[in-house]
Amino acid sequence: MKMQKILFVTLIHLVILCVDAKWKLAIQWRATLCQSPSKPYCQRSILEKFTIHGIWDYNSCSTSGRQLTSQEIQQLKSNLKLSEVWLDRSNTTTGNEKFWERQWQKHGHCTNLSALVYFGTAVNVYNKFPILKYLQAEGIRPGSKFKVEDIHETIFRQGRFRPYVVCDANKLQELQICFDTPAFQGFDAVNCTTSSPPSPPSPPPPPKCEEEGQKMITLPKA
Ligand SMILES: *[C@@H]1O[C@H](CO)[C@@H](O)[C@H](O)[C@H]1NC(C)=O
Ligand SMILES: *[C@@H]1O[C@H](CO)[C@@H](O)[C@H](O)[C@H]1NC(C)=O
Ligand SMILES: *[C@@H]1O[C@H](CO)[C@@H](O)[C@H](O)[C@H]1NC(C)=O
Repeated sequence: MKMQKILFVTLIHLVILCVDAKWKLAIQWRATLCQSPSKPYCQRSILEKFTIHGIWDYNSCSTSGRQLTSQEIQQLKSNLKLSEVWLDRSNTTTGNEKFWERQWQKHGHCTNLSALVYFGTAVNVYNKFPILKYLQAEGIRPGSKFKVEDIHETIFRQGRFRPYVVCDANKLQELQICFDTPAFQGFDAVNCTTSSPPSPPSPPPPPKCEEEGQKMITLPKA
């Protein structure tokens, strides 16, 4: 009985290891987003923080859908406190709302989840993985220099998964956390594989340094 159980669990694990991730949460380091002179609007006080970029099924929506209603937007703000964790570059009310709307059009509406569940799932997953704490636990702090590989290894040691790393030149810009369950179900992160598409094909993929393990990068300070 016990043996069967062990075999079964091992089999499940093997199956899980062999499939590519199916959905992901992407988080952005605000100090990198906000450093460029072409992006002058970010609030200076909230730079040393990862905030949500999106929660994506690998198949993005093929059509656009209905818009978020003003009532839904109110719920996102009051029930989920979305303005604290899912911010546009500007962190202005209109900027944030437009950002949520774009993500809803591109990835949200075709999931058939309610807006509250779709955005709420992102917030739950974001809260589940304290990435900055993982990094700080091993000495990677705003202002430090480290290798791309150190990010992979550190987060793997702390959280048991390997994120997908996106850079802007030599600055950490984004981390993606991958899941291999059906879209937005089951929150055990797995290693992101470089063979998986890093993001839906359009618009053009973000700058990245995922494959450059030895490259030295920084986590910019405010
Ligand atoms: C973004 O701006 C809103 C409104 O000004 C503010 O309430 C919120 O705390 C800001 N977000 C962060 C992460 O500070
Ligand atoms: C959403 O609902 C439509 C209509 O019932 C269905 O065709 C589609 O496959 C559903 N999408 C998902 C992701 O479940
Ligand atoms: C997951 O990634 C970590 C860090 O890169 C690596 O050490 C580990 O072997 C990987 N595990 C699997 C199952 O690929």
